[in-house]
Amino acid sequence: MNERPGQVLVLYGITGDLARKLVLPALYRLTLRRRLDVPIVGIAHGHLDRGQLHRHVHDSVAAACGQVDGAAVESLVSRTELVSGELSDHATYEGIGHAIGDRGFAVHYLAVPPSLFAQIAEGLGAAGLTGDARLVVEKPFGDDLESAERLNEELHRHFPEERLMRVDHFLGKDAVENLLMFRFANSILEPVWNRSHVASVQITMAESFDVADRGRFYDAVGTVRDVVQNHLLQVLAYLAMDPPSDESAEAERDEKRRLLCAVRAIDPGETVYGQYDGYLDTPGVAAGSTTETYAAMRLWIDNWRWADVPFLIRAGKALAVTTTEIAVEFHRPPRTLFLSPDCDRPPPNIVRFRLQPGPGVTFDLLAKDPATTVGTREVKVSVDFASQLGYTESAYERIFAGALSGDPRHFARQDTVEEAWRIVDPVLDAKQAPEPYERGSWGPASADRLAPGGHWIPTEVHA
Ligand code: BG6
Repeated sequence: MNERPGQVLVLYGITGDLARKLVLPALYRLTLRRRLDVPIVGIAHGHLDRGQLHRHVHDSVAAACGQVDGAAVESLVSRTELVSGELSDHATYEGIGHAIGDRGFAVHYLAVPPSLFAQIAEGLGAAGLTGDARLVVEKPFGDDLESAERLNEELHRHFPEERLMRVDHFLGKDAVENLLMFRFANSILEPVWNRSHVASVQITMAESFDVADRGRFYDAVGTVRDVVQNHLLQVLAYLAMDPPSDESAEAERDEKRRLLCAVRAIDPGETVYGQYDGYLDTPGVAAGSTTETYAAMRLWIDNWRWADVPFLIRAGKALAVTTTEIAVEFHRPPRTLFLSPDCDRPPPNIVRFRLQPGPGVTFDLLAKDPATTVGTREVKVSVDFASQLGYTESAYERIFAGALSGDPRHFARQDTVEEAWRIVDPVLDAKQAPEPYERGSWGPASADRLAPGGHWIPTEVHA
């Protein structure tokens, strides 16, 4: 990777939804903490004067962060120069070139729909702006393996892989990165982190909100493309990969790729799709749409560490709670000596990683029940990272810091993106209509058949 620090940030889609909700608040927080002082060139569709830009930045920050530090907003706005124009127009790129001037190494950040990625790369190429620049693109990278390969090819015509960064904001989450640290900075887990000791692994990404105003986007995508192919397969890779050979970003990415290569393509027979009641009334959703708003699936990793251990993933909208959690369930003891009076089979040990909200780890263990002579009771050994470790940067702060410094650690590499598409390919676009489920439920009951023993391990954050 080209780790040259960016000297100017070119932000496409500065007035768009993504900028308003995530990008501008992250740039503001970085400015506030004096971690960002490069000039910004913002690309907008129509004309925007300084007063409008100021209001836009202020309102975006207020909506996302609550409190607003006027001086930090002012500093952000005063460093921003606007270029208005159509992205299909050569003159826009000339304007961008002019705004970059001799400010140095430019980082082009595309907070725009993926259908524009190739066009922007092409426009920058034609204006002679690619030779010395980095391109940062948001997911989704393609909508299947073939289109991802095509997109990579189009972008590589103008930006080699070492100057191309693909944002998967889950990689910017501290709690996700911590999976790797927690596993390999401690020596107690690694000896048992394998098929001899682990009975199953469950990854849940439940969201209690529905698709709201994103109907048009979501309907063309569905749960598997929206969060499984990217965020959740990255989480699975962190959970199951071997230790990297050194601490470099590339060693980490090599191991993730090796793990994903061992994941079998998902069997449609081991997948359940759902759609919440009322989805079809969402503005932007096609009449009779069969897009899934819930997906549950069982995956298998064909390697020595994980053969025959079921890895379950479930994700969906309008579910009972909002939580992203992992439960690693261990085999029960070979012989049960210590039974509690009300239970003829003690529960298994579980290591739980709460990614959000309230990141932390909990070990479900058994201890002697003081009310009995030889009985046991379940106890939880739990840590809440925020209270013990303090402030964590948001995913987008870390992503911008990485995009500017050129550190690829929080970005997805082409080969892992393509492996992830291979894995989900057989289950893209369900062949049958998704099963309906009630809002506020845990999705279609038939997903239970995928879990060992016919039920999913309840998440720590309950309804
Ligand atoms: C996005 C998806 O990538 O991730 C959304 O498009 C989803 O549908 C979101 O809600 C979840 O991210 P986070 O960080 O809010 O959990």
